[in-house]
Amino acid sequence: MSNLYTEAYDQSIHDPEAFWGQIAEECHWYRRWDKVLDDSNKPFYRWFTGGEMNTCYNALDLHIDNGLGENTALIYDSPVTDTKREYTYLDLRDEVAKFAGVLAAKDVQKGDRVIIYMPMIPEAAIAMLACARIGAVHSVVFGGFAAAELATRINDAKPKVIVSASCGIEVKKVIPYKPLLDEAISLSTSKPESCVIFQRKMAQAELKSGRDFDWDDLMLKAKPHDCVPVKATDPLYILYTSGTTGQPKGVVRDNGGHLVALKWSMKAIYGVDQGDVYWAASDIGWVVGHSYIVYGPLFRGCTTVLFEGKPVGTPDAGVFWRVISEHGVKSMFTAPTAFRAIKREDPEARLMADYDLSDFEILFLAGERTDSDTLKWAEDNIKVPVIDHWWQTETGWAIAANCMGLHHFPVKPGSPTKAVPGWDVQVVDPNTKPVPPGEIGAIVVKLPLPPGTLPTLWQNDKRYVEAYLEEFPGYYKTADAGYIDEEGYIYVMTRTDDIINVAGHRLSTGAMEEVLANHPLVAECAVMGVEDQLKGQVPLGFLVLNAGVTEDHDKIIKEAIQMVREQIGPVASFKTATIVKRLPKTRSGKILRGTMRSIADCKEYKVPATIDDPVILDEIEESLGAIGYGKKAP
Ligand code: COA
Ligand code: AMP
Repeated sequence: MSNLYTEAYDQSIHDPEAFWGQIAEECHWYRRWDKVLDDSNKPFYRWFTGGEMNTCYNALDLHIDNGLGENTALIYDSPVTDTKREYTYLDLRDEVAKFAGVLAAKDVQKGDRVIIYMPMIPEAAIAMLACARIGAVHSVVFGGFAAAELATRINDAKPKVIVSASCGIEVKKVIPYKPLLDEAISLSTSKPESCVIFQRKMAQAELKSGRDFDWDDLMLKAKPHDCVPVKATDPLYILYTSGTTGQPKGVVRDNGGHLVALKWSMKAIYGVDQGDVYWAASDIGWVVGHSYIVYGPLFRGCTTVLFEGKPVGTPDAGVFWRVISEHGVKSMFTAPTAFRAIKREDPEARLMADYDLSDFEILFLAGERTDSDTLKWAEDNIKVPVIDHWWQTETGWAIAANCMGLHHFPVKPGSPTKAVPGWDVQVVDPNTKPVPPGEIGAIVVKLPLPPGTLPTLWQNDKRYVEAYLEEFPGYYKTADAGYIDEEGYIYVMTRTDDIINVAGHRLSTGAMEEVLANHPLVAECAVMGVEDQLKGQVPLGFLVLNAGVTEDHDKIIKEAIQMVREQIGPVASFKTATIVKRLPKTRSGKILRGTMRSIADCKEYKVPATIDDPVILDEIEESLGAIGYGKKAP
């Protein structure tokens, strides 16, 4: 039966130019596009070529020009510093225009890169929007990464300026950011000309004369800068995400397609519109933070909540209910792990009783598959629809969802529902042949991808093609495997590469192996994601030592864990490793990671016919048992 969803979906697939062209009319353009979809250079597709616009104008000034300047744009709620602050659209525009002036005075020009390494404070969003205002390309780096990871991003993006803060706050711990920044700059070959540091009172950063500048000082002297028209196809940002090696992928987002897709998605997917309060409890360092803390809600004229805290411990498992009730949140977005954390602390949801949640209408979950326990707990207790939806850093917005602004389909646990308009999702076998409904295969999306998705990787078209387009010609490879049922519901089951998902954070086990392999006593290693009740997955390391090593095993393990913490960051949650004599391999030398993972997770598995020595699996089972995993765990 036809409904708003099926109508939109059909048009988006059969006539994408008409579909997106009419949506783009709602946005502000200095110059109209020549072509909605430019496919003259396949497999590189571009949206709205010839169009000129400005992302920051569409996020802020447009609403002010429409008489909505006194509406609240952003609410900063920080239980870790006991601060709440509201910005109207006018307030936020003025701050952003001033910071754009600061950047311009530091000679940041259209196309120059600016790295933003900041905690969850409004200044982070202000810095992002200021870059957009002058056509500079921002690259936000998540605060939980170590200096070496930041250095890799500095080397790739080659920023003219880095914007940072003196510290972040993790529950009660003050984490000084400046020493990490200094170390990253000393490790990197590309050096920024200047750093702008926002001093927080919990920790003052030491500024290096001539290179580092105080945010407040510069803002006092700054001349507000106006919006600069950019091409729709110019890059708005680069966001690095884990690939299969230690070298992260620089996902590029363009300006025009991003604006059109995100503005539409707020209403079509999340069911919110101008004036509604929307809260994405994520971090600006992740794609969710880019799309749904900063850009999407502001494009739509909503009020966005920027929350500096955790679901538990800041101060308790009732904080989400407090924020929802105090700010009148209508629609919220977070990762299932956050709800698992709340459920663990407050299984009966008693703390919810203290708050009026009558404005709250829909909870969205993403970042990992929503397990049915969490889904049921949230549905039973909050009594609003709980919507799982599936997307990736690369896509920038949801590939599959229950589009609440179009049509509410019945929820099937374990499924993020159906392909969102714009996405021709298919499940194929290794020869790119579609598999029948219900059968597992690689989930791919027929090209072209809709607007707002990655046009390429930063200065690396080759890697873009190799990583996403080569394996299934004519399709984008999501690197997720799963199936589609008879009714078109998509089920995303597992990654097909070595990416793992730890508390909604995307990490590469390959990158951890690269770090561990550098331990002088380690001959070989393997890292895999094993099931974890709170975080979904956590990494587990297997180390094979060089022949003749007599050092204490516990000491080696501690060193290995510390190396991952120092070189990738605490966010990796790499806390467990074990030393084994050998790793199970196929006769051709491939490590049997899947089999080891099944043993750790107590899952049934078949001994692969190609294994070179099945006895090793017994040894692995013993070692896992000793550290609390698998059937031999005490
Ligand atoms: N800056 C510095 N350190 C950070 C950090 C940041 N921005 N974010 C996390 N870390 C550190 C933490 O302090 C912790 O360090 P520790 O090993 O010293 O304790 C480590 O990285 C792991 O952090 P985290 O993954 O947050 O785990 P946690 O045990 O502290 O909290 C949850 C668990 C479930 C409460 C938390 O992960 C959470 O709220 N997850 C929501 C996920 C999310 O928003 N995902 C984004 C996609 S939607
Ligand atoms: P990221 O790029 O960090 O957003 O991580 C993207 C990956 O997270 C996807 O490729 C999936 O493996 C996983 N993921 C995100 N959302 C979901 C979901 N709703 N269901 C299943 N997996 C998900």
